[in-house]
Amino acid sequence: MIKVAPSILSADYVNLQSDIEKVDKAGAEYLHIDVMDGSFVPSISYGPGFVKAIRPITKMTLDCHLMVQNPEHILPAFIDAGADIIGVQVEATQHIHRALQIIKNGGVKAEVVINPGTPVAMIEPVLHMVDQVLVMTVNPGFGGQKFLPETVDKIAQLNELKKKHGYDFDIEVDGGVNNKTVVDCYKAGATVAVAGSYVFNADDPASRVQALKNATK
Ligand code: DX5
Ligand code: ZN
Repeated sequence: MIKVAPSILSADYVNLQSDIEKVDKAGAEYLHIDVMDGSFVPSISYGPGFVKAIRPITKMTLDCHLMVQNPEHILPAFIDAGADIIGVQVEATQHIHRALQIIKNGGVKAEVVINPGTPVAMIEPVLHMVDQVLVMTVNPGFGGQKFLPETVDKIAQLNELKKKHGYDFDIEVDGGVNNKTVVDCYKAGATVAVAGSYVFNADDPASRVQALKNATK
């Protein structure tokens, strides 16, 4: 059964605490927080102050996905804010080892993220040092986009590398995930599913969390 990470990008910001409680009670393991800088991606969302505000109201694992150019500078602020996992996009930094090392030195789980157009080979040199790999299944920047099936093969490639080298990182997928698209991801080796619009644009977010789990039993 896959772990579920609802993305609050699609939540009701005015009633955020209530939305967080709904998915927590439904058994979602992570809360996915999408940080967009208006440069790496066209949209702007929220920064470390947002994570700091959420930290005291939930015990859920705060899974912060930084869609930020040159993330090195802002990493300490996310570490201080109480993030549990911080992901950096390999395309956004010239110094991926350094960025991941800053996260690890801060006592936070380190994640590397690849866009749909980025091959797995780009992150092979850092797979030994990460706790999680995020395979984007849409081009980042917006919620509600259509899942790109050609990304599934990259999940399988990562799963092979995990077995070959004995790595134990989680493989997370993000973008266009619903109870149908999650199935192939899970079969290919994904262990965590991010879902934004599928969970929060529903009358009953809890049932959508359960549907993702039921689809991967
Ligand atoms: C996309 C974000 C996603 C987004 C997913 O840039 O990284 O986490 O919230 O939204 P859905 O699940 O609606 O595709
Ligand atoms: Zn995300």
